[in-house]
Amino acid sequence: MPEAWWRGAVIYQVYLRSFADGDGDGVGDLAGLRSRLPYLSELGVDAVWLNPWYPSPMADGGYDVADYRGIEPVFGTLADAEAFIGDAHALGIRVILDVVPNHTSDQSAWFRAALAAGPGSPERARFWFRRGDGDAPPNDWQSIFGGPAWTRAPDGEWYLHLFAPEQPDFNWNHPDVRAEFLDVLRFWFDRGVDGFRVDSAALPVKDPDAAPDGRDPYTDRDGVHDIYREWRRLTDAYPGRMLVGEVWLPDQERLARYLRPDELHTVFNFPFLGAPWDAAALRTVIDDTLATLAPVGAPATWVLSNHDVTRTVTRYGRADTAFDHADRKHGMPSDLTVGMRRARAAALLSLALPGSVYIYQGEELGLPEVEDLPDELRQDPIWRRSGRTDPGRDGCRVPLPWSGTEPPFGFGAGTPWLPQPADWKDLTVEAQQADPSSMLSLYRAALRIRAAELGDGALTWLPMGDDVLAFTRDSGLTCVVNLGADPVRVDGEVLLASGPLDGDVLPADTAVWLR
Ligand code: GLC
Repeated sequence: MPEAWWRGAVIYQVYLRSFADGDGDGVGDLAGLRSRLPYLSELGVDAVWLNPWYPSPMADGGYDVADYRGIEPVFGTLADAEAFIGDAHALGIRVILDVVPNHTSDQSAWFRAALAAGPGSPERARFWFRRGDGDAPPNDWQSIFGGPAWTRAPDGEWYLHLFAPEQPDFNWNHPDVRAEFLDVLRFWFDRGVDGFRVDSAALPVKDPDAAPDGRDPYTDRDGVHDIYREWRRLTDAYPGRMLVGEVWLPDQERLARYLRPDELHTVFNFPFLGAPWDAAALRTVIDDTLATLAPVGAPATWVLSNHDVTRTVTRYGRADTAFDHADRKHGMPSDLTVGMRRARAAALLSLALPGSVYIYQGEELGLPEVEDLPDELRQDPIWRRSGRTDPGRDGCRVPLPWSGTEPPFGFGAGTPWLPQPADWKDLTVEAQQADPSSMLSLYRAALRIRAAELGDGALTWLPMGDDVLAFTRDSGLTCVVNLGADPVRVDGEVLLASGPLDGDVLPADTAVWLR
């Protein structure tokens, strides 16, 4: 692959805790991941993105980082991490890490020092410590996980946390913070990693003392771009490395600002992820995406799922197929047969669009969201912080089923940290690789054809009716997706279809690749 490999890469998201467990403690780890690398190679992915693997008390699944230069002991050691990077590279798979600049763990050395040093100390200046308003917090900001965004230290001062109290926010006006993160990026680039996924990338810059100016006080503040310009300068010193931002912004113009040539290389396409299963809505998102990215020269990314959102099969089987953080529609009825058909079609759609594609682990197996986890096993802080009204994100984080007919389905020797449904016996890797009509077989075939035939040329829409998304790529590959109720006639040599065709007729909720 060329130096700008990320422009067209298929990137597989590894949620390490739930991928494969090598040491039998019920939690996925680096030994498990290394043993399963041949699976990823056979699937045909170009890169993996790993959720945080750093030492962490796991108050938010590792997004509470206690040490940015180490490996969480439950996952392995720094030597394991280096061996993993070497193994992946030997298979031609690049490695993207998660970096979390907005906040750290309350157990990090800096935050502990800040608490110990007391009010007014230089140690506290790296965070947002403030005196309250009497017994009330310094302002009315709310945490994204629910409840106030301020927690009181034993000496009476309050500190800011946009997420859980265990995740104190850094003060990015402080030079120590800026220098620290440049050094962290360097630390991992020097160990061979190929890029970073930047967590909560629109949030680091804020000023709780500033008077309200009518805009969101901590999202997408202009100053945030200085950070990414600095990071880009550093990244450019390492050839072939990239940065992808987690930027949830509805406004595509604001989003494109993160992708100016001297900032991030790509951002996740969340408008695409959130769009309902509707031809007009999806076409609008695709057109808007391509139109806003063209002027900054950044490639699109196509994302259907990740560790924070409802699994595709479940979402597409509901009456309302859009995804919205504020309303996860947890427990709303879902027809999983319909959902599976649409998820298969959506996979062919996203893999045929121009740009790179992210696949969240388990999507290639068509796993549904697990909605009946026992309450006492739920770990997502959203569950607790919402007063047990929002079950949160554990349902898309259940350990993968690899083989066998009962839990733990080859995940590892121990009891998985979240229980797997008994009916996943039909969804294991083992069961699916023996079945040419499985979701796994579809993904493998699609990735193979994509690598051989898709090219990086432009997309041209074909007029095939309001309920049909149809386009040709410059390479000659045509993708037709039927989102309507009526069958449509297609013409050409069928390379791959998401479901059975009836002669040259494409049924509802089905996609086909033609030449
Ligand atoms: C990002 C992560 C999410 C995490 C949050 C706080 O949105 O994807 O899992 O909880 O940031 O770090």
